Amino acid sequence: MSVALDTRVMKAGSAAIDAAARCLAAGRLVAFPTETVYGLGADATNGAAVARLYAAKGRPAFNPLIAHVADVAAARRLGEFDRAADRLAALWPGPLTLVLRKASMCPVADLATAGLDTIALRVPSHGTARAILAGFGKPVVAPSANRSGHVSPSTAEHVAADLFGAIDLIVDGGPAPVGLESTIVACLDARPVLLRPGAISRAAIEQALGEALLDQGESPSLADGEAPQAPGQLASHYAPRTRLRLKADAVRPGEVLLAFGPVLPAGAERAALVLNLSPRGDLVEAAANLFSHLRALDAAGAGTIAVMPVPTAGLGEAINDRLTRAAAPRRED
Ligand code: TXA
Ligand code: MG
Repeated sequence: MSVALDTRVMKAGSAAIDAAARCLAAGRLVAFPTETVYGLGADATNGAAVARLYAAKGRPAFNPLIAHVADVAAARRLGEFDRAADRLAALWPGPLTLVLRKASMCPVADLATAGLDTIALRVPSHGTARAILAGFGKPVVAPSANRSGHVSPSTAEHVAADLFGAIDLIVDGGPAPVGLESTIVACLDARPVLLRPGAISRAAIEQALGEALLDQGESPSLADGEAPQAPGQLASHYAPRTRLRLKADAVRPGEVLLAFGPVLPAGAERAALVLNLSPRGDLVEAAANLFSHLRALDAAGAGTIAVMPVPTAGLGEAINDRLTRAAAPRRED
C-alpha cells in the first residue's frame, strides 16, 4: 500500500514556501519547521490527504490532530472561543494549542478531529510555518513529523530519518527553536484544563488566564474513568449512540449497514441505509470516510449499525481500532 515517494528536501525560503503551499493544495504531505518541533502537514479540509498522513506516520489509531492556522482570525472560524480561550489567544502566535468546541461551519475533515465535536487549534510563531500557512490559506493539520512511537523531530534530518520516501516534501529550516511540543489546554467547560504540559509553562498560562488550570482528572467532560493512552487522549474518541455489530456477514432486519468493498452481504438490499467506506476496497478512502459515515448512520436512528469486516493491513489497523472503540458498551448501559 505504501508506494515509495520521491521526497524532496528544500531549504526554507520563498521557493520552498511556494512549493509547500502547492503540495498541500494537491493533497500531498509536507514536513515543515515550527517553533516547537517539525510538523507533518496536510490540508485539514481534505479527508484523503489526512488519511495519507496517518498512513505515513504509521499511527495504530486515529488520534485527533492539531489544526494550524496563520492567525487568530482564522482560528476563530474553526472553534468556539469562550472567555478563557479569548484570554489565552493573546499568547498566539506561539507554542500553545487550544482544544475548543468545533464551530458549526468548521471545514476541517471529520477524520482530522477523529470524529469529535472538539478541535485542537494552534497559531505557530515560526516564520516559515506562518508563511506556509498564509500562502496555503487553509488550515493545516500537523502532528509531529515522526513515525508513530518515535520521538518528535527537532531537525529536518530527524524527519528524513523517519519519513524519507513516505512524504512529498521536507522544508529544512534548521533546528526547531524550542524542541518540545506545544502546551495543550482545553476550554470546554467553566474551568480550562491542562491536557499536555509543553513549551509554555503552566505558570505563564495561568497568568494570562487569571485563574488556575485544572488537571485532566478534575475535568467534568474529559475525565471518563479510562486510563489515558497518551497525553491529551482522555475521552477523546467518538462514540455513536447506535450500537455497532462488527464483522457482520449479513444484515438483520432493522439494521443499517456500514459496508466495505464491492460485494455487499446478504440482506443489504432491505437495509434502510447503506454507506460504503470504499466500494473499491481502498483503505485510504475508507479512513477518510469513516467518521462521517458513522455519524450519518448514527443519525438514521436504526437499532444497530452492522459493520462489514475491514482488513487489518495498513490503515486498516487504525480503522478497526476506531470501530472496536465505537462498538464498546456505553457506560450508561
Ligand atoms: O508542538 C506541537 O503541538 C506539534 C507541532 C507540529 O505543532 N504538534 C504535535 O501534534 O505535537 P501531535 O499530533 O503529535 O499531538 C497532538 C495532541 C495529541 O496528544 C492529541 O491527542 C491531542 O493533541 N488532541 C488533538 N485534538 C484533540 C481534541 N479534540 N481533544 C483532546 N486532545 C486532542
Ligand atoms: Mg507527536
